[in-house]
Amino acid sequence: MRVPMIAGNWKMNTTVSEAMELVNEIRQELDEIDNVDKVLCPPFVSLAAVKELIKGSSIKLGAQNIYFEQKGAYTGEISPLMLAELCEFVIIGHSERRQYFNETGEIINKKVKAALKVGLKPILCIGESFKENEAGRTEEVITEQLRSALAGIKYPNGSVIAYEPVWAIGTGKAATGEQANKTIGFIRQTIYRKYCTRVAQETRILYGGSVTASNIAEFIQQSEIDGALVGGASLKAGEFLSIVKQTSEIGVFERD
Ligand code: 13P
Repeated sequence: MRVPMIAGNWKMNTTVSEAMELVNEIRQELDEIDNVDKVLCPPFVSLAAVKELIKGSSIKLGAQNIYFEQKGAYTGEISPLMLAELCEFVIIGHSERRQYFNETGEIINKKVKAALKVGLKPILCIGESFKENEAGRTEEVITEQLRSALAGIKYPNGSVIAYEPVWAIGTGKAATGEQANKTIGFIRQTIYRKYCTRVAQETRILYGGSVTASNIAEFIQQSEIDGALVGGASLKAGEFLSIVKQTSEIGVFERD
């Protein structure tokens, strides 16, 4: 049985005080919803303040990136050891990092390993570009992204996968529920082939890309989709609450 998850990726938005304000607006109502995992991923600089604000609640915390060394002379980087004290999850391999910061499959693999080593749960992002989608290469691209990210990992302990087609991110042009369900089903098959039935059944696979309060129901109703990684809409208190509430109402059924 997989508990649905809604994670808010705030990206490079909110100052510390804005982050605190947003958490104060959503904290109580989010806390009252107990059949969905609610994860907030604010910028690094707000993690400690948000952690303090959600203390004692059922809300979970995630970071948006990580470096793969545990400590040392890497000016400006944030290590797994530092994050392990603050949060439970970490987004790895987001398409914006692949695109703007040249993160390769090899780097992403190192990051996933480094996170797992300290007990952080990766939210591993994968997804094809518009061109790749048009060329009918979605499954091929996803297979390669999974292969490289998970190379040498015997058990992806608590990892979550987010299927985020690049063409749907921040464009207002979400995939359809049916499209996302098909690809997420394929991702689950790939996990099954690499690992086993149990890992395939327990791994939560989210959809991400222009998710809003108006389309979340379409995704949550699908049998393979376990929740969403929400960008823009997670910055609006009312909209994010609505996404989590709808997930709570629709999304709790035996998923196996
Ligand atoms: P949007 O929801 O803004 O399209 O962003 C999706 C995303 O990239 C989440 O990680």
